[in-house]
Amino acid sequence: MESPKRKGIILAGGTGSRLYPVTKALSKQLMPIYDKPMIYYPLCTLMLAGIREFLIITTPNDKDAFKNLLGDGSKWGIDINYKVQKKPDGIASALILGEEFLNNSPSALILGDNLFHGENLGKNLENASGKIDYSTVFAYKVSDPERYGVVEFNESGEIRSIEEKPTNPKTKYAITGLYFYDKNAPKKCKTLKPSKRGELEITDLNQLYLQEKKLKVSVIGRGMTWLDTGTFDSLHQASSFIRTLEKRQGQKVCSPEEISWRLNLISNSELEILAKSQEKSGYGKYLLDLLNEKSHHY
Ligand code: TTP
Repeated sequence: MESPKRKGIILAGGTGSRLYPVTKALSKQLMPIYDKPMIYYPLCTLMLAGIREFLIITTPNDKDAFKNLLGDGSKWGIDINYKVQKKPDGIASALILGEEFLNNSPSALILGDNLFHGENLGKNLENASGKIDYSTVFAYKVSDPERYGVVEFNESGEIRSIEEKPTNPKTKYAITGLYFYDKNAPKKCKTLKPSKRGELEITDLNQLYLQEKKLKVSVIGRGMTWLDTGTFDSLHQASSFIRTLEKRQGQKVCSPEEISWRLNLISNSELEILAKSQEKSGYGKYLLDLLNEKSHHY
C-alpha cells in the first residue's frame, strides 16, 4: 500500500505585536518581503519539498484577505484550505486545528513568518519529507540562540536535549520554524498542557517525540539562509536580502507561479494568464520572460 502523502500546514495567525501599529489592521504574513507577500515564502518552501495540499491557519479577521490572495490554490496547481485560530494559543495548537485536514497523514508545519533559501533546499527537504516513521526538526546556527528552542547533540549527531529559550544555551543551534511530524502529532498535541504563557508549546511536542526516540534533527548548513521576519529590523533585512539576490541574478526567490510552472503543475498558457494579470508591477513581466526561456531548467 502506498504511504499517505505529507500535508502542509502554514501557521499564519498570531498577533504580530512586535510590528504594531502596522499589524493592527493587516496580518504580518501579508506584509511584503521586498516584492511579494510574506506567506509566499513558506508556501514555496513546502511546494519545493513536494507538498501539494495545504492548510492555512489565520486569525478570524484575516481569513478573507488570505483567500483573496491565494484562493483555493488551483491557479498554482495545488490545493489550499483554510482554518481560523480564534486566539494565538500556541504553535502546537495548529496540529489540533489541522487534525481533520491531515486525516492521519504525516505533516509539515511551517511558521508563516519563516523564510528559507538556498541551493538544493527543495531536494533536501523532499528527502526528509519521505521519512514518515519519525519526526524531524531542522536546526540552524545563529548568533542569538537564546531566542529559540536550542538543540544539543550527542557524539553521533543525534539530539541529546532541547531547551526552550535558555539563558545559557548549550549550543548555537536554533530549531527553525519548520517541522516534519509523523501522523500521530495531533493526538500527541491533545495531551499537552498550556505553558505559563497560556500556549501549547511546540517544544513540549518535540520533547514527547524525543522521549520516544522518534525525533531526528537535520542541520541546515551555512550555505543556506533561514530568517524569521517578526520585527521591523528583521523584516527590513529580509526584504533587502531578497532584493539583493533578485537584482543580481535576475531571478525571483519564491514566486509560486514560477515554481508551480517549473514543477509542471501549471501549463505555459496558465502561466501566461497569471503573468498578464500582474504585468504592471514587473512581477508579471518576469513571469512572461520565463516563457521565452528555452527550457524549464534552473
Ligand atoms: P510569534 O513570532 O511567536 O508571534 P506573533 O507572530 O504573534 O508576533 P509577536 O511576537 O510580534 O506578537 O509567532 C511565530 C509565527 O507563528 C507567526 O507567523 C505567527 C504564528 N503563530 C500563530 O499563528 N498562532 C499562534 O498561536 C502563535 C503562537 C504563533
